[in-house]
Amino acid sequence: MAKVLVVGGAGYIGSHVVLELLDKGHEVVVFDNLSTGQKVNLFDKAEFVQGDILDVRALENVMSRNFDVVIHMAALKAVGESMAKPEIYATGNITGGVNILNAMVKFNVKNIVFSSSAAVYGMPKYLPVDEKHEKEPINFYGYTKSFFEDLMDWYHNLKAINFISLRYFNAVGYDALGRVKGKEKNPQNLLPIIIEAATGKRNGFEIYGNDYDTEDGTCERDYIHVSDLASAHEKAVCYLMTEKKSHVLNLGTGQAVSVRQMVEATEKVIGRPLKYAYAPRRPGDPAKLVATSSLARQVLGWTPKYTNIKDIIQTTWNMEK
Ligand code: UFG
Repeated sequence: MAKVLVVGGAGYIGSHVVLELLDKGHEVVVFDNLSTGQKVNLFDKAEFVQGDILDVRALENVMSRNFDVVIHMAALKAVGESMAKPEIYATGNITGGVNILNAMVKFNVKNIVFSSSAAVYGMPKYLPVDEKHEKEPINFYGYTKSFFEDLMDWYHNLKAINFISLRYFNAVGYDALGRVKGKEKNPQNLLPIIIEAATGKRNGFEIYGNDYDTEDGTCERDYIHVSDLASAHEKAVCYLMTEKKSHVLNLGTGQAVSVRQMVEATEKVIGRPLKYAYAPRRPGDPAKLVATSSLARQVLGWTPKYTNIKDIIQTTWNMEK
């Protein structure tokens, strides 16, 4: 069992990771500024410390408590916003990240698991994308993730900090047992937008582009259930406790699901048709982005449990009911 500091543990993915760690018997402290994280996402069994990664004193205070592993999930994540306001992303994602690494050095914490993203790859040159694919982010958000990975590599070599960087593909779904109570606020991603249209919170939605070189003309992505992401983090923690090696690992299912398939599957789950229109392509969208996660399977012994997109959508729909 490990003593784990989860930075950003009250957020959408963070709260699922905390649940999984508690389920597996780890000791968990959550550090979160509650900017997007929510109090309802905190669990009694995990201690909560409210604080910001830009507040070095608060960060060092919590870091001084002999952790085995830090999971760093505190970041800004809106791709469009990162292009309009890079300075906020540089401060939050890069300066904040540096503060975490430096606090780890100061208090001799030797292991970190990092929330990275498929956004580090940019436009895929081949599919499925593996970890050897070159990093060429096309948005500033992706650049901040790529930059922090490089930084961890340097700290690994210079300061003996071991890291596992987990490159998420498209995170979707909610805890199937309904234990995570906080629905994401102002969601920017496809499935939550479809669900908002289904509940009448928005008047329909748009499909960005139906003339891509894909089977049905709409973009294909690799949707991975958030509880499967969470189990990979728990396995990464256990790995770092014994192996003391660093890795960069993709997390996806390897299955391509198109925007239309996503819409049709949601219609089946909710039992009625949805209102949508086709709109022009969204700039910067690759036609298809699918992972191979064989390295994560091999290194961590991880397998995603959710392989059926309808089951994944059902867990999101249940949040509404
Ligand atoms: N889409 C629509 N209509 C919408 C919203 C999205 O058609 O209203 C389409 C997009 O064009 C895209 C697909 O649905 O083809 C998925 O879009 P998302 O915005 O949900 O996700 P992205 O694949 O663009 O981005 C996600 C994360 C990023 C991360 C990236 C890495 O949101 O943080 O995956 O691949 F960087």
